[in-house]
Amino acid sequence: MVRVPRRPLVAGNWKMNGLRSSTAEFSRIVEGARKLAGVDLMICPPATLLVLFAAAAKGTSVLIGAQDCHAEPSGSFTGDLSAEMLKDAGASAVIVGHSERRSSHHETDADVRAKALAARRAGLCAIVCVGETRAEREEQRALAVVGTQLDGSVPDGAIAENLVVAYEPVWAIGSGVTPTPTDVADIHAFIRQRLGSRLGEEGQGIRILYGGSVKPSNAKELLHVANVDGALVGGASLKADEFLAIASVYGRQSRNIG
Ligand code: 13P
Repeated sequence: MVRVPRRPLVAGNWKMNGLRSSTAEFSRIVEGARKLAGVDLMICPPATLLVLFAAAAKGTSVLIGAQDCHAEPSGSFTGDLSAEMLKDAGASAVIVGHSERRSSHHETDADVRAKALAARRAGLCAIVCVGETRAEREEQRALAVVGTQLDGSVPDGAIAENLVVAYEPVWAIGSGVTPTPTDVADIHAFIRQRLGSRLGEEGQGIRILYGGSVKPSNAKELLHVANVDGALVGGASLKADEFLAIASVYGRQSRNIG
């Protein structure tokens, strides 16, 4: 097996949380990030805070991501934001296909792939989310569901610079319940293999994050699993101490994973 160094990424998805006053908490993350080497840190605030957070992170290693984009670069789409606008606001990445958008906004794999392509067009890295529901897992369909989502959502020609995959089992999001490290290992190995057969050698370099109830208390056991290249953190990313404690699992040196 080819071993490719992949730099871990710990990304925080703030979802619909945060006001301008949250810049103080974000600044604590930026401050703490100075002491962490060998791991990329990213915060994805609501769109209203992108410009503010990008300014606060300027000149530091902390990356800014958005939470969704429209597939078109501009036009009559009231309330939507294009990938180009997000880039202009200071984002370097955008989450697409989060399960909350797949369910509340009925986004299909084709929609997600169009958004990932829009991200690439704008020079953003797309963080494509996949993950099965509780019922699908209980029906032993987790791999099939994730495989279908991956095939439909990941654009052709994706490379490590423009794609990150986040495996987020829907039942683990915000629930405090997580899969076992063995289950995470199985599904991440499956995703790695699928990316490899689709994208060839490039698939080896694409980071696969785990997301769903990641906390400082479980970060070590979940994030040191083979083929887990970081985390997509929801609730715990709102608190600088917790987010930094999760990221610190990766320590100071970059590693070979896989
Ligand atoms: P929690 O970490 O709050 O479970 O959320 C995970 C998530 O949805 C990140 O995108």
